[in-house]
Amino acid sequence: MFAVHLLAFYFTKLKEDQIKKVDRYLYHMRLSDDVLLDVMARFQAEMVKGLGRDTNPTAAVKMLPSFVRSLPDGSEKGDFLAVDLGGSQFRALQVKVSDVGKQSTQLESKFYPTPKEVFQGNRAELFGYVADCLLDFMESKNLKHKKLPLGFTFSFPCRQTKLEEGVLLNWTKHFKVRGVQGTDVVSSLRKALKKHKGIDVDVLALVNDTVGTMMTCGYDDQRCEVGLIIGTGTNACYMEEMRHIDLVEGDEGRMCINTEWGAFGDDGALDDLRTEFDRELDLGSLNPGKQLFEKMISSLHLGELVRLILLKMTKEGLLFNGKVSTALCTKGKIEMRHMAAMEEYKEGLSNTKEILTELNLFPSEEDCIAVQHVCTIVSFRSANLCAAALAAILTRLRENKKVLRLRTTVGIDGTLYKAHPQYARRLHKVVRRLVPNCDVRFLLSTNGSARGAAMVTAVARRLAAQRKEIDAVLEPFLLSPETLREVKNKMRTELEYGLKRETQGSATVKMLPTYVCGTPDGTEKGKFLALDLGGTNFRVLLVKIRSGRRKSVRMYNKIFAIPLEIMQGTGEELFDHIVHCIADFLEYMGIKGARLPLGFTFSFPCKQASIDKGTLVGWTKGFKATDCEGEDVVDMLREAIKRRNEFDLDIVAVVNDTVGTMMTCGYEDPNCEIGLIAGTGSNVCYMEDMKNIEIVEGNEGKMCINTEWGGFGDNGCIDNIRTEYDKEVDEGSLNPGKQRYEKMTSGMYLGEIVRQILIDLTKRGLLFRGQISESLRKRGIFETKFLSQIESDRLALLQVRQILQQLGLDSTCEDSIIVKEVCGAVSRRAAQLCGAGLAAIVEKKRENRGVEHLQITVGVDGTLYKLHPHFSRVLQETVKELAPRCDVTFMLSEDGSGKGAALITAVAKRLRNVGEN
Ligand code: BG6
Ligand code: BG6
Ligand code: GLC
Ligand code: GLC
Repeated sequence: MFAVHLLAFYFTKLKEDQIKKVDRYLYHMRLSDDVLLDVMARFQAEMVKGLGRDTNPTAAVKMLPSFVRSLPDGSEKGDFLAVDLGGSQFRALQVKVSDVGKQSTQLESKFYPTPKEVFQGNRAELFGYVADCLLDFMESKNLKHKKLPLGFTFSFPCRQTKLEEGVLLNWTKHFKVRGVQGTDVVSSLRKALKKHKGIDVDVLALVNDTVGTMMTCGYDDQRCEVGLIIGTGTNACYMEEMRHIDLVEGDEGRMCINTEWGAFGDDGALDDLRTEFDRELDLGSLNPGKQLFEKMISSLHLGELVRLILLKMTKEGLLFNGKVSTALCTKGKIEMRHMAAMEEYKEGLSNTKEILTELNLFPSEEDCIAVQHVCTIVSFRSANLCAAALAAILTRLRENKKVLRLRTTVGIDGTLYKAHPQYARRLHKVVRRLVPNCDVRFLLSTNGSARGAAMVTAVARRLAAQRKEIDAVLEPFLLSPETLREVKNKMRTELEYGLKRETQGSATVKMLPTYVCGTPDGTEKGKFLALDLGGTNFRVLLVKIRSGRRKSVRMYNKIFAIPLEIMQGTGEELFDHIVHCIADFLEYMGIKGARLPLGFTFSFPCKQASIDKGTLVGWTKGFKATDCEGEDVVDMLREAIKRRNEFDLDIVAVVNDTVGTMMTCGYEDPNCEIGLIAGTGSNVCYMEDMKNIEIVEGNEGKMCINTEWGGFGDNGCIDNIRTEYDKEVDEGSLNPGKQRYEKMTSGMYLGEIVRQILIDLTKRGLLFRGQISESLRKRGIFETKFLSQIESDRLALLQVRQILQQLGLDSTCEDSIIVKEVCGAVSRRAAQLCGAGLAAIVEKKRENRGVEHLQITVGVDGTLYKLHPHFSRVLQETVKELAPRCDVTFMLSEDGSGKGAALITAVAKRLRNVGEN
């Protein structure tokens, strides 16, 4: 009895001594809670660094956006393929998800070996092999004829810009394939798949295994918002608030971040905790200096750490009587499975003894006790470190949600966690100690990461289908160079019709003579009034022109509003209002009694028989006052002045805004012989040779022609490029069937086209959650200035959203992206069409002059041209492309067309005086 007790005592003592010995030896590997809390704090700082735009480039922990924005919601369904590459096993799978009897998935899979030449060969070999295995799998499951979407679980750090693209940053774990780093792995896989004729697989999503695991577990537990892998490698992902992710536009909702925490410490942040064994292990690895945290944790390395420790202890005579075996000196001889077996405590020391014997080490009882304890310390440190980093993530989640207690679920996978007898229990315990204010459920992934990858693929497929639909809607807005050339040619034909006596009557491009026969020559002088009616603003101006050495133009102007009810009331009301504004202006300028000559910029089509007579052909844009069409607008103005009976004015000239603009610019640049307006409306004038203008007598010199090209297409000649949206806009306008070209190119209508498209996309459920809001029903909400703002490249998505919100459109970030795209398609087409028209004009000018190469200036005005961020550039590019033999300078009119109108008035008055004398 005594002897038995003595033996027991002796044995306990022996055990204690061995344990104390190892504890002393590996003192550095035993981490207290204080140290772990410190590690946790360091990892919190790392996460912030990785998320920041400026700090990310130098951050060790890359915090990679995954473009997974939501957890499974049960609506996912369909048949999917999955490939799971990067863990200890490689497999191909088929996942069937059905939404009936919610949360049911079926999974079939086949494992394939990964020979060394595959994971340490070259790119073509790797992806070729993956494709071959997939093909084999599809054959074995009779899936070859099916078109299936595929989710690609690729468990390495990839920089993603969307779900279906990811550039490999660097290999980790046991992979080192040449030519893959820095390239998109999805396109490599697609390429390899393409080589197999007869299979049609669509790679729709790239997912890290952490993300796949989180999604797999999220399917069963909606609270799951962290994915954790403790296997060959180690890593975690979690749902982060979009507003904290600088690298991705948008601030709404959440996105899963793949932390790539394996690289924690690569910048030296953990150097104080790393031991000589960690350093030695790192030096002998495939990627020295990299994945330092991972190398202290994951199953790929723990066995090797144990081996290095045992080797050193033996060499120092602390184990195996100082006898080192060849096996103990051989890299990789101790694996994680050995550790797991040795730490099976209920087996006592038998497993340990067996394993050490296999390594030719002839262990004593003491040796076995010591070795078992070495394993425990190494695997416990792994669980401790993992717990510290996980605690940091949980704390971040809790703070993001601004709650005192966090209830959450962590989805976990990986052989170390699953197969090691003590690991899971230890990890859970330490986490609960480190973050007592988090109630964590640890949910083991039973299906690997593939089910989750299928979930992500389901979302990706929905997005891809949406993308296709949006592309199809916008496709008619993409004009090919041939189409644009055709537009140019048709415009040219219509210009000729307008000039010819026989065809002029039925021409849609009216080519109205203006009786302006020359550009300013600098001798103009005097004091003039000018009216500028028909653009965004109605203005009254006083223009003082000096000639000779003190040549200058001084202008004073005031903007007046024209209320809608006046624009669309009676003619008398309109002209009375205009005169009322003039009276106000004269008083404002203190020149009430003066009888000044007046130039009237009237930006609507007028048939002129002389410079001071203009019969309104028809209202355009937003005007529709009654009793004006067919009347002389100068007479109407005179009568209104008479009615007011307060002052007298000498109306000398009536001018279109294009003509005023050409004159304004012509004053600075005599080569300016074209005037272009790209604003509320769209129009061009140019100097035409008199001999070509059949409806005006005389063949000498030139006269400015107001083309009124806005009417181009009114005979149906460009109906082939008009979309249903254009037709809708036309039908809802004040002048249906008229000004078809203008309605595709000018500010007053572009917003309306956009609105029609948005309504359609919403009806199709592709925008605004399928809800057509009151604001979207409102005609005219998209003014040119909003289009310009939305399309500005300087604006972040968030600001676009704010603009839309101002307009009463409650949009998500995805909505904002689509709206911006729609605006872009519409305005680009407008600029190209306008460019095609202008190309016809400059080509005609070139032919008129009979030169090989034409140098010409176009004076331009209009809010679309001036404010839109891309319109002018696209317009100019198109002209260059379609009229390569013309060198066109675009000159922006800074002073509006009023100055030009005054100059014309000056000339007309001089000529009239000459005539009178
Ligand atoms: C598997 C997942 O279950 O676990 C893989 O399906 C993952 O995607 C793997 O990579 C991680 O564990 P290990 O131990 O195989 O690296
Ligand atoms: C102004 C001119 O600058 O531009 C007007 O003075 C012209 O005559 C106008 O009608 C055109 O642009 P918008 O965008 O105001 O129609
Ligand atoms: C490595 C990879 C990472 C992966 C982890 C677990 O750390 O870099 O992407 O998630 O291993 O497999
Ligand atoms: C409309 C008018 C035209 C004017 C243009 C630009 O097209 O019909 O006269 O030049 O708008 O304002």
